[in-house]
Amino acid sequence: MASYQTPRGTQDILPSDSRKWLEVEELIRSVCYYYGYDEIRTPVFEDTKVFKRENDSSDMVNKEMYTFSINNEDSLTLRPEGTAGVIRSFVQHKMYGIMEMPAKLYYMGEMFRYERPQKGRYRQFNQFGIENIGVKSPLVDAEVIALGYSILKALGLSQIKVVLNTLGDDESRANYRAKLKEHFAPCLDELCADCKRRYEQNPLRLLDCKVDKDHPSMMSAPKMEDSLNEESKAYFNEVLKALDALEIPYEIDDRLVRGLDYYTHTVFEVVSTHPESGSQATVFAGGRYDGLVEYFGGPQMSGVGFAMGMERLMILAEAEGIALGQREGIDVYVMGLGNVGTVPLEIATACRANGFVSEFNITPRGLKAQFKSVDRKQAKFAVIVGETELEQHMCNVKHIASQKQVSCDIDDVVDTIELLMKEGE
Ligand code: HAM
Repeated sequence: MASYQTPRGTQDILPSDSRKWLEVEELIRSVCYYYGYDEIRTPVFEDTKVFKRENDSSDMVNKEMYTFSINNEDSLTLRPEGTAGVIRSFVQHKMYGIMEMPAKLYYMGEMFRYERPQKGRYRQFNQFGIENIGVKSPLVDAEVIALGYSILKALGLSQIKVVLNTLGDDESRANYRAKLKEHFAPCLDELCADCKRRYEQNPLRLLDCKVDKDHPSMMSAPKMEDSLNEESKAYFNEVLKALDALEIPYEIDDRLVRGLDYYTHTVFEVVSTHPESGSQATVFAGGRYDGLVEYFGGPQMSGVGFAMGMERLMILAEAEGIALGQREGIDVYVMGLGNVGTVPLEIATACRANGFVSEFNITPRGLKAQFKSVDRKQAKFAVIVGETELEQHMCNVKHIASQKQVSCDIDDVVDTIELLMKEGE
C-alpha cells in the first residue's frame, strides 16, 4: 500500500504543538503592537525577478529557490525570505507617499528554500520578520535589534547573544572589496567553486564560506574595519551607543557579513549559546539595506529589519525548558444520560455564548465514563441532563471543586453556574 508522508524538509505542526506556536505568535504580535508595527501580508510566490536581482551572489538566490513556470507564463518563485516581497509591496503601493515614515511593517509566514534538511533547517519554514523603512538612523537599527531581543526575553530565553558588525556605506565596501580581491587573487585556485563565483560577484561573501573557512587566506584576510570611512565608523558607533543605553549586551564580529547581498552598514545575528542549539543556532538575523527601495523603483530610502526562524525559536524554548501552550481546563462539561437529544448541545452552545469554554458528551455512555471526561478535561462544572429530569425541563449543575450540586431549569444553567462561581470565591 502506498504510504503518504510529508515531503523532505517539511513538517506537520500537530495540535499539541500548534498551541505553543499560537502562544508565541500572540506574544510576537503584542510586542509588535507596542513598538508600533503593523502586519503586512504579501503573496507566498512572487515574480522570480523580485528575488533574483542582478548579479546576486547569495546561495539562497543561486541554489535554493523553488522556481517554476506554468503554461509558459513568467517565471515565479516561492518566497525564500520576506524582505524582497515587502519592499516590492512598499514601492508598488507607494507607501512612502501615503504613510508617516518610517513605515513599520511585520510579517509572519512560510518561506521555502531548497536546503539540506537538518534540525533547525528545513525546506519549508516559518519566519517572523520586521522591516522599518524610510528613515536612516542608528537609533532605528538599535530599536530593531531591541524589538527582536525583547521577544526572546519575554519568552524567557536566557542563553542568547547579539553579534553585530558593519559593512559600511558604498564607498567603504568598494574599498574593502578591492582589498579582498587583491588578497584572495593569489590563492583563488585553492578555493572552492562557490568562492570563485563569490570572488567575481561579491568578494565580501568569501568570508562567509563554510567549506574554506579554515584556509590560511581566510585567517589573514583584511578586516572591514580598516576599510571603513569616517562616516561609516561614526554610524556604527552610534548604533553601539544606543545598544549600550538599552543595556543590550553584544559582541562585535568583524567577519560577520551575512548570507544575503543587500546589506549595508549594520548587520547582526542573534544566536543561542545553549549546547543543544547546534549548528543552526541563529534565531534571528538582519541588517540595514540602503539600496533595495530604489532597486524596486522607489525613492532613495534606506531600511532595516530582521527575520526570526520560528522553528528555531520553538526548538530553543524547549531546550531551555520553557513551558508553552499549556491548555487550561474547560469551564463546563455537559453530560447526557439516556435519550436527551439535542439538549446537551443546546446547553453547551448557551454556555459558550456566555463566555464559558464548554463541551458536551456525544456518544452514549454511562455516568462514570462521562465523569472521567469531566476529569480529563479538568472541567470546573458538570451539567448533568437525565431523561427523567428533562421531562420537567430540569437538569443538575455540579461545581466540581466544592462538589456542590444544584438542580435548576434548563434555561437557567448559565445563571446557576454564575451563582455557584460567586459562592466559591
Ligand atoms: P536569513 O538570515 O536568511 O535572513 O534568515 C533569517 C532567519 O530565518 C535565520 O536566522 C533562521 O533563524 C531562519 N531560517 C533561515 N533559513 C532557514 C531554514 N532553512 N530553516 C529554518 N529556519 C531558517 C533573511 O531571511 C532576511 N530576509 C532577514 C532580514 C529582514 N534582513 C533585513 N530584513
